[in-house]
Amino acid sequence: MTVPASPSTHPDAGWWRQAAVYQIYPRSFSDATGDGIGDLPGATARMGYLSALGIDAIWLSPFYPSALADGGYDVDDYRNVDPRLGTLDDFDAMVAASHDAGIKVIVDVVPNHSSNRHVWFQAALGSAPGSPERARYHFADGLGVNGELPPSDWPSHFGGGAWTRVVEQAGPNAGRPGQWYLHLFATEQPDFNWDHPEVQADFHTTLRFWADRGVDGFRVDVAHGLAKDMSLPLRSKPQLEILVDDGSDPLFDRDAVHDIFTGWRGVLNEYDPPKAAVAEAWVPFTNRRLMYARPTELGQAFNFDLLQAPFDAAEFRAIAEKCLVEAEASGASSTWVFSNHDVVRHASRYALPDGSTLEDLEAWLLAGGTVPPADLGRGLRRARAATLFMLGLPGSAYLYQGEELGLFEVADLPEASLQDPTWFRTQHKVKGRDGCRVPLPWQRDAANFGFGGTPWLPQPDWFAGHAADAQDGVEGSTLEMYRAALGWRRKLQTDESLAWLSEPAASVVHYRRPNGWEVLTNFGAAPALVPSGVDPAKVVLSSGVPATGTVPAETTLWLAP
Ligand code: NOJ
Repeated sequence: MTVPASPSTHPDAGWWRQAAVYQIYPRSFSDATGDGIGDLPGATARMGYLSALGIDAIWLSPFYPSALADGGYDVDDYRNVDPRLGTLDDFDAMVAASHDAGIKVIVDVVPNHSSNRHVWFQAALGSAPGSPERARYHFADGLGVNGELPPSDWPSHFGGGAWTRVVEQAGPNAGRPGQWYLHLFATEQPDFNWDHPEVQADFHTTLRFWADRGVDGFRVDVAHGLAKDMSLPLRSKPQLEILVDDGSDPLFDRDAVHDIFTGWRGVLNEYDPPKAAVAEAWVPFTNRRLMYARPTELGQAFNFDLLQAPFDAAEFRAIAEKCLVEAEASGASSTWVFSNHDVVRHASRYALPDGSTLEDLEAWLLAGGTVPPADLGRGLRRARAATLFMLGLPGSAYLYQGEELGLFEVADLPEASLQDPTWFRTQHKVKGRDGCRVPLPWQRDAANFGFGGTPWLPQPDWFAGHAADAQDGVEGSTLEMYRAALGWRRKLQTDESLAWLSEPAASVVHYRRPNGWEVLTNFGAAPALVPSGVDPAKVVLSSGVPATGTVPAETTLWLAP
């Protein structure tokens, strides 16, 4: 497929390359209507806060009509607003306020699956096997004598199998169990058939719909999942992980997916400046992941490598070095992220004993955050150091709402309040992601900490100390650290260069950015010597205690020229 050559000489065409992007999980950000669910007018009302924070863009997780079977990633209607979150007019008002504040807007687009309430899926359920209505999704006959077994052994991401059997509503078998449909996520999230031209055309329409309303970019959910090998017999794949880097996996990262995004780039380039896009593609092989980020495709791909790494000097340096080299080779800029709505907040991850695995983290969540005991002070100290390490790097930094308040995971949510499909589909064996989605605390002394109505997930008492107004103007608070860093960041992002400097100790990583800005991180538990030639008087920002001739333990320093 040919893509219009990238085109733009618009001065704003590369705005995303080094942007600090703040993720808003709309239901949990700010509730203007008082129903306990965050909404678009709530986001609009916080534009002053976001502007003072110093971010360049917001990314909104889905705000579309949805039964919220997966927190809104089950979309009923791609070109509308959930009435609980507002209206299209509210959306336009939010975009206008955002642009007035100099903040770009990125919206989430969810192309791998719709919700089971989507008009096309409802039509598919009401039509007979083999009908054109079924062809927009993946329906298949079951195995076994009477089709009583799922068509393949594929698991769902949230636990259980990836196929659900329907009771036919039309055709000769009406009223009886019939075909199965594919859902790699929850039962309520049927996967689209991306070989179908109507599916492709409809997403182009959706991109144009939001682009015409003024959004500046798109975050593309499960970007690596759209092209699937559905040829019969379906291949066995008892685990979802991608184990090969040659595009031959039946479900993920197949080469054909790139034709889809080349087509999208054509749409995105109809605008000037072209619309930005970032792929959510959990592809472990960086050479493959970066294919999504080519200028002829989405332009950027999330890089979750730092997020998955332990807090360790050698690991952080190796990852940063590799990602920068590879991003440059692909024509993209790198992305960085420590927290989002799908993972345990990084201040809590780093609080667990060193060497903890993902399984340990899940066990800790299941134990309500009690076993093993977490050292929260250490977790936040490390999270702040990691964030300043990351904010100094070239590329885009994706920040998740509440990390600027130093929020920890709410690991002890009452079980009756949990909503993540993972919790239900694993029969309560995996707790899921609710603990990072608890509505934000804005005011220490207000009802519901100023969020609005009684929050859809309960806020813990300790949120009081993290409330935005409790940190506002307080020297050394996490909020003030983020504000200072995002302010200084504009000075060291004048180009995308970075030089690694020699380190005084194995626990230290040291790099220089344009105009002589330097960043020094000590990952160790003991203070480290300041490298010779570095003047501690030039420290303008510390993630921890003030530097007194050393780089304090688990601390990042920023030095002005
Ligand atoms: C990734 C999203 O970030 C996550 O929240 C969602 O559950 C899955 N994709 C499915 O849409």
